[in-house]
Amino acid sequence: EKAGFDHFMLKEIYEQPKAYRDTMGSRIDESGTKVVLNEVKMTAEQVKSIQQVHIIACGTAYHAGLVGKSIIEKLARIPVETDVASEYRYRSPIITPNTLVIVVSQSGETADTLAALREAKRCGARVVAITNVVGSSVAREADDVIVTWAGPEIAVASTKAYTSQLIAFYLFGLYLAQTLGSQEAEYIASVVSELKELPAKVEQILEQGEAFKDWAEQVASHNNLFFIGRGLDYAVALEGSLKLKEISYIHSEAYPAGELKHGTLALIEEGVPVIALAIQDDLFEKTVSNIKEVKARGAYVFGLHAEGETELVKAVDQVFSIPHTLPLLSPALSVVPLQLLAYYASLARGNDVDKPRNLAKSVTVE
Ligand code: F6R
Repeated sequence: EKAGFDHFMLKEIYEQPKAYRDTMGSRIDESGTKVVLNEVKMTAEQVKSIQQVHIIACGTAYHAGLVGKSIIEKLARIPVETDVASEYRYRSPIITPNTLVIVVSQSGETADTLAALREAKRCGARVVAITNVVGSSVAREADDVIVTWAGPEIAVASTKAYTSQLIAFYLFGLYLAQTLGSQEAEYIASVVSELKELPAKVEQILEQGEAFKDWAEQVASHNNLFFIGRGLDYAVALEGSLKLKEISYIHSEAYPAGELKHGTLALIEEGVPVIALAIQDDLFEKTVSNIKEVKARGAYVFGLHAEGETELVKAVDQVFSIPHTLPLLSPALSVVPLQLLAYYASLARGNDVDKPRNLAKSVTVE
């Protein structure tokens, strides 16, 4: 059942290229220049009436929602807020009939997410669900459902569900942009074409999977470390940090790289590992200067960059590269080494990778 892999988590990490392809599936038209989302039944008028988007989810799905916010704001130019479901419900969110609420849930059964969906509907908002389970509670109660075709996810730590949620957000963001005319057709075609390249690029990362094992073994001897990044790199840092905590039980914190000097820099001392994501081209210089700040305090820095960006080598202690893509699409690649890092660190510590302590796969209590 693990198809030759030692754990479900590793199997599911390696299933990601297929999960990307299946989730894109027939949702890209034959010319390869446009998205077709037949399952979304909104009329063009309804799409044009959207004044704000709220993305609601928990845990890893929330982290996908943080990337979703950037995707929709960039492609559709509509303001987006992303909230943790258990917070959203209790903060009297301003939900109007012109609010589009997107709930993200792998299982489709998370109690807080479901309750937030119901609250949104009660306020007259339209609800789109991104879920991996056809026929789940969330899927049944939402107005529109975008299914992520990741296949069953068994490991408690979510991997392929998260990345397929990102793919769903790219598709939905492009659909909104097409309907609203917020982007040139040429630009949309270029994003679609890069999107189609992602599965092969994930395969390239997975081919060097063993390299991340060595990295994880170095990290596994520490009890405390940091992930830093800016923009979408920060959103991915949050997911990398959660994954590491969840299965290796190593404490880590994800921080926006530019924010360190407002307090957290005090925790950086000799030998503290810092995992720095410097993938975003437009933020590269800024991130490098933040890396220099932690290096100057003795941090041991592992850098992650896009192929061809050789400058990072000089600024860090060790460097890993991933294939180049559009900055907007990079989370779908940069998270993969972090999933492998968490997996191998958990393994190095002798933990039960697929069933971490204190956690359940589906959280149906509030
Ligand atoms: C972490 C993880 C959890 C889930 C969260 C939401 O690896 O899996 O954080 O993402 O419990 O679950 P779903 O997506 O089923 O609503």
